[in-house]
Amino acid sequence: MQTALLDWFAQHARDLPWRRTRDPYRILVAELMLQQTQVARVLPKYEAFLTAFPDLATLAAAPTAEVIRCWAGLGYNRRAVNLQRAVQMVLQEHGGVFPRDVALLRQLPGVGPYTAGAVACFAFEQDVAFMDTNIRRVLLRTHYGAAQLDVPGERALLAVAERLVPAGQGWAWNQALMELGALICTATTPACQRCPVRPMCRAYAEWQVADAATILAMGAPLRTQVAQPRQRAAERRADYRSETPFVGSRRWYRGRIVDLLRTLPPERSLPLDELGAQLKPTFTPDEMVWLDELLQGLVRDGLVVMEDGAVRLP
Ligand code: ADE
Repeated sequence: MQTALLDWFAQHARDLPWRRTRDPYRILVAELMLQQTQVARVLPKYEAFLTAFPDLATLAAAPTAEVIRCWAGLGYNRRAVNLQRAVQMVLQEHGGVFPRDVALLRQLPGVGPYTAGAVACFAFEQDVAFMDTNIRRVLLRTHYGAAQLDVPGERALLAVAERLVPAGQGWAWNQALMELGALICTATTPACQRCPVRPMCRAYAEWQVADAATILAMGAPLRTQVAQPRQRAAERRADYRSETPFVGSRRWYRGRIVDLLRTLPPERSLPLDELGAQLKPTFTPDEMVWLDELLQGLVRDGLVVMEDGAVRLP
């Protein structure tokens, strides 16, 4: 599986800007942007962000409002605030030099197990394992199969991932797993016919058996059933967090509030009643409690400043 996947990656990898650098600052920006946003949407934003904030010192010193403005279109604005706090911490506590150690990376704001592993691997080329949606789906299929039975816990799956990392090739290996999940081993319609690891994939073998059984029972294969495997519970859970929030949901309104504040000139703030009216044409004073509660959450996340009955970006 290691040789097959690494060979495939060498031939089919997309040329993505964060694959051409080993600068931990640039890798961190990319990984935070890519966490809940698709590659195509990230690409132009990534270039624009790095033009505005070419290095960690520039980002650390920038007004947070500018960082939030530059994050427009990516969603989950909290990531922008965390990114700035993380580089500020690298400056203040690590003398401006990114820590290489996964445990130290994890202490940076907004950096969880995935991001810490990704920076250690993609910037410092360490042979570490970590999970994201694509890696999880690929390993579940290759190692645990198509059946809904025997779903491993996260620890067990991570142990499989760790065992698989080829010595000295962690960078290419983890990029390759992600690439396979993004291009071939997709959630609903995996392209098994083009898959380099099909010969060693448990799910593929099981789908073949299911197909054969259908031929026996019905005289013909139910191609659509085999081509569109039901997504297993563990995969569905991982894929659940969608990029675009449900209109009218709490997250949707949070995004609209930050969008409205982005349109204000720097330093300007918006009175609460005007914000309410712009947010909802039907806004009534009764809804001030609801609005205030939403704003408190945004204040806690460092996305909004509230003073004298008005709000603005920090
Ligand atoms: N998604 C998250 N990290 C990625 C990477 N390094 N390449 C492509 N897609 C990604």
